[in-house]
Amino acid sequence: MSSPKCMQARSSTKGDPLLPPPPGAPYYDSAMDTWVLSRHADVSTALREPRLRPTGPRSDKRSHGEDPIIQARVRAETLAALSPAKLSAWQAEVRRLLCVLVDELPRDRPVDIVHELAEPGCLAIAVLVTGADPLKAQHLGDLARKVSAGTSDAKAANAELAQYFQNAPIPMSGPAFVALSQTLPRFLANAWLALLRHPAELARLDTDANLLPKAIEELLRYAGVAQKLSRQAGVDIELAGIRIPEGERLRLMLASANRDPTQFPEPNRLDLTRNAAGHVGLGAGMHSCAGGALVRMAAGVATGVFVENIAAADIRNPVEWRGGSGFRSAASLYVLLRR
Ligand code: HEM
Repeated sequence: MSSPKCMQARSSTKGDPLLPPPPGAPYYDSAMDTWVLSRHADVSTALREPRLRPTGPRSDKRSHGEDPIIQARVRAETLAALSPAKLSAWQAEVRRLLCVLVDELPRDRPVDIVHELAEPGCLAIAVLVTGADPLKAQHLGDLARKVSAGTSDAKAANAELAQYFQNAPIPMSGPAFVALSQTLPRFLANAWLALLRHPAELARLDTDANLLPKAIEELLRYAGVAQKLSRQAGVDIELAGIRIPEGERLRLMLASANRDPTQFPEPNRLDLTRNAAGHVGLGAGMHSCAGGALVRMAAGVATGVFVENIAAADIRNPVEWRGGSGFRSAASLYVLLRR
């Protein structure tokens, strides 16, 4: 294909999750009452440190955390339920679902591929993977949106999802449904925006679909949706050249670590042929994303369908973002599809 033309100038970069702050030495943020780590080596070490427990960004000083034995069991069950055999069985169906959606979209006017392709496509993937009743998809999607947005009714929505999925084939199908229907389209929005801003890379992918697996790793590095994670020291610990007393909190800046030039030369350049191994877009170590292989498969198929159908982009200036500083993505992306 000829590379898609941007119909408007480059979008504004203010608050742009695709341009995170550069990494730097660890420091203590007294206003936030937390250590901040942003260099790739520091973040990567912290993610692999068993004496640091996952915690929420706003929880109390001392986190009670999840029982590590239960966490390890749920992780092992999730990985088993998302086996390579299962993923390859789903792959063709994921492509069919996305092709049906894209074929129904108009070709004579710009369409918002976040709302009209990524979101319904990911909802259909969530239904497929969790075995939910397709007739309940919209209602379950509404519940997932409330959980993801953390609105006042999020707790009730979460409980209803847990109740609905209590006998589902995948452990924690409620959270999996939320991740697939809400988080995955946000990643696709950022990944597709990154490609639209780099027409030469997009054209490269269009001429060589074999590049997709590598491209998805680079997009997880460059355009990952999780900007940061929180940890709490279970004991006094020395890490990244600092001493962190028991109970203190750390903020691990994933997006900044993914732009560390000591790990990724020319980090602000999207290069789909780059070896992006070691990125932390899906975490790393014993708590890394248990749905990682599924995310890679689904994002690869969806991005393939996107690339095959895109003709031109109409990137709004400035891009409208949604989500807070931890989880930020393009709210909409207008494109013209090929006729
Ligand atoms: C684009 C979509 C997704 C993104 C960006 C994402 C991102 C992440 C990240 C960054 C972590 C690390 C959390 C930490 O270290 O504190 C994580 C953990 C996890 N993710 Fe995902 N995830 C996605 C989709 C999914 C899906 C679809 C599933 C399940 C089917 C899933 C299941 C999990 C589980 C169970 C963990 C916790 C692993 C553990 O503590 O052992 N994720 N995810």
